[in-house]
Amino acid sequence: MAKTLLLLFFLSALTSRITHQQEIFFEGFNGGEAAVNMSLNGGAVIYQSGTLGLTNDTQKVVGHAFYSTPIQFKNKSKVVSFSTAFAFAIVPQYPTLGGHGFAFTIAPSKDLPNGYPSQYLGLLGPKNLGNFSNHLFAVEFDTVQDFEFGDISDNHVGVNLNNMASNKSVKATVLGQEELNLKSGKVIQAWVDYDSSKNQLEVRLSQTSTKPNSPILSYEVDLSPILKDSMYVGFSSSTGMLASSHYILGWSFNINNGDAKTLSLKNLPPLPSRDKPHRRSLILGLSLSASILLLCSIALSFYLTKKLKNAEVIEPWELEVGPHRFPYKELKKATRNFHHKNMLGFGGFGAVFKGTLANNTEIAVKRVSHDSKQGFQEFVSEIETIGRLRHRNLVQLQGWCRNHIDLLLVYDFMPNGSLDKHLFEDSPRKTLTWEQRFKIVKGVACGLLYLHEEWEQTVIHRDIKAGNVLLDADMNARLGDFGLAKLYERGSNPSTTRVVGTLGYLAPELTRTGRPSTSSDVYAFGALLLEVVCGRRPVEAKALPEELVLVEWVWDRWRLGAVLEVVDPKLGGVYDELEVVVVIKLGLLCSCEVPEMRPTMRQVVRFLEGEIPLPEGIPPPDGFGGGKSGHSYGGNTWLSPLDDDVEGTRDEDGS
Ligand SMILES: *[C@@H]1O[C@H](CO)[C@@H](O)[C@H](O)[C@H]1NC(C)=O
Ligand SMILES: *[C@@H]1O[C@H](CO)[C@@H](O)[C@H](O)[C@H]1NC(C)=O
Ligand SMILES: *[C@@H]1O[C@H](CO)[C@@H](O)[C@H](O)[C@H]1NC(C)=O
Ligand SMILES: *[C@@H]1O[C@H](CO)[C@@H](O)[C@H](O)[C@H]1NC(C)=O
Ligand SMILES: *[C@@H]1O[C@H](CO)[C@@H](O)[C@H](O)[C@H]1NC(C)=O
Repeated sequence: MAKTLLLLFFLSALTSRITHQQEIFFEGFNGGEAAVNMSLNGGAVIYQSGTLGLTNDTQKVVGHAFYSTPIQFKNKSKVVSFSTAFAFAIVPQYPTLGGHGFAFTIAPSKDLPNGYPSQYLGLLGPKNLGNFSNHLFAVEFDTVQDFEFGDISDNHVGVNLNNMASNKSVKATVLGQEELNLKSGKVIQAWVDYDSSKNQLEVRLSQTSTKPNSPILSYEVDLSPILKDSMYVGFSSSTGMLASSHYILGWSFNINNGDAKTLSLKNLPPLPSRDKPHRRSLILGLSLSASILLLCSIALSFYLTKKLKNAEVIEPWELEVGPHRFPYKELKKATRNFHHKNMLGFGGFGAVFKGTLANNTEIAVKRVSHDSKQGFQEFVSEIETIGRLRHRNLVQLQGWCRNHIDLLLVYDFMPNGSLDKHLFEDSPRKTLTWEQRFKIVKGVACGLLYLHEEWEQTVIHRDIKAGNVLLDADMNARLGDFGLAKLYERGSNPSTTRVVGTLGYLAPELTRTGRPSTSSDVYAFGALLLEVVCGRRPVEAKALPEELVLVEWVWDRWRLGAVLEVVDPKLGGVYDELEVVVVIKLGLLCSCEVPEMRPTMRQVVRFLEGEIPLPEGIPPPDGFGGGKSGHSYGGNTWLSPLDDDVEGTRDEDGS
């Protein structure tokens, strides 16, 4: 009997191979069949009710759920038509903030071993983005706007081919009009249909059991080069610093045999009930018997007094805030009570400690004091803004914590420390090669361009310097302390606003007007460029009088045609001369006294990438070598080919 069944099973598997037809239908994932036919990994689980959970609201997890057996997608090397419908719900940890998203996925494997959490949705990682060997097709339902992938909004549906940057994306809507909030926690049905005769892919969304007539996304694409013969279908999802529970309640899939059956929403299982941990403990506490309660209340009052003393009371609005709020105890433990041996140094605004969390993640904790007069809610909303900035050349803010007047900011730990240590310390082990220096300079430029132009609002760094450039394990540059200056300024009295910045990096107009701008950042970046080439600080008290101010010394050498004399002797003469000259010249351009004559960060990046050549002439720096009119050295001719770029990006200056 068992043998016959087995034979039948193989036979049916065989016929489905031959006919290239297969149907999958789950209204809920309960019962043994789902357990056998669905292969789960990462955070994915099937709840008692029959709902499939891809992630819960734990941070930085990945969840995959794929149909266990591979599916034949091609007939004679052409992808055949397929159709799928599924019902999902996204329940974010904090109502307004999604914690990344999920994707209907067709992939060569069912565990996607290279899938990273956060913005990668468990699909890909930084090393294989865009690689044709990924053979990955995904329709993402994304609730976070990741600028590095050009996301259009924090509520969109996109088609991704081998990449996290979508080939086509649209805002999530119903019938192409009314915006549909993907992270509302409500059940939404989605349909993805691929018609191989027209090479047409369509996506539909609805909150009902009826398939809409018109798609919200329609994309003409031949999937034959993307998909392999035999592929796995299913779902992938992830959370990041912000988290959502991503649920699939039902799924139907059909290949080479017409449309997938639409799901009837009323037949689907309910969502798992969601108790916040602290509420659960409260309920637990209430249901305890009176005698235990008495004992507990004594302990509780102890605990509460301690807690109040630490002023770590969670206010309702704090729960709405983005970056992870760490318990003070956890950070205290991680840094061994802020032990001096764990101190990494003093960054802008406060001391920085190294810490190790219980899960062995290394972190850097910055301890800044907070003026209690300042509205704390405002302060925290600023932190949330900083937490949403994401770029490979920025040090990522992981979270924060408040204890009395201390504010603790938790960042990714950067194992190679700050750039100034490598540039100015005489340990040969730390000396950077030219190749490393050039990569670092380009990295800082990209990070700063992101802050200035690529994020939703302009962020002026205000304290660009070698000490704020940190190096990760691969010696990539990451800018630290961004956004902090502004955060500080909020609470202070405008008439006493101190100029934030560091001597030698301060643009001349800043000391006059006190108004920072993107071009005062560019000035500081220019000083950084010269530092990296020359291996010395912008103002060196120990230097010869004529070498005191770095930019003037470099300009002088440049004018005399002996610019290579300024190159850091620690390089031992091993460097790419063309690159060195580009960096020096750019450093001088950025150091121009007249803000309008400095390039924008976009231009800087293009100069460094060699996309546009640097101009011939260079304006001299402050009060040196030929007047301040800005014209005695040929006017701003060097800017003329770029006039289009310059206009409109200068409104920050206000001068
Ligand atoms: C495969 O494609 C050919 C046309 O190229 C068609 O005649 C045949 O029916 C297809 N087979 C299946 C199983 O769809
Ligand atoms: C699960 O797999 C078995 C054996 O392959 C198959 O007979 C059954 O139809 C599958 N169920 C679903 C819902 O796909
Ligand atoms: C949430 O998922 C994480 C990671 O998979 C797991 O460790 C944790 O136990 C889950 N939490 C709950 C409440 O299910
Ligand atoms: C693409 O991935 C393959 C296999 O993982 C690898 O050998 C190849 O170098 C990658 N190509 C690029 C351009 O990264
Ligand atoms: C999809 O977009 C990637 C870049 O994001 C591009 O390399 C690829 O060629 C595109 N694929 C198609 C089929 O347009």
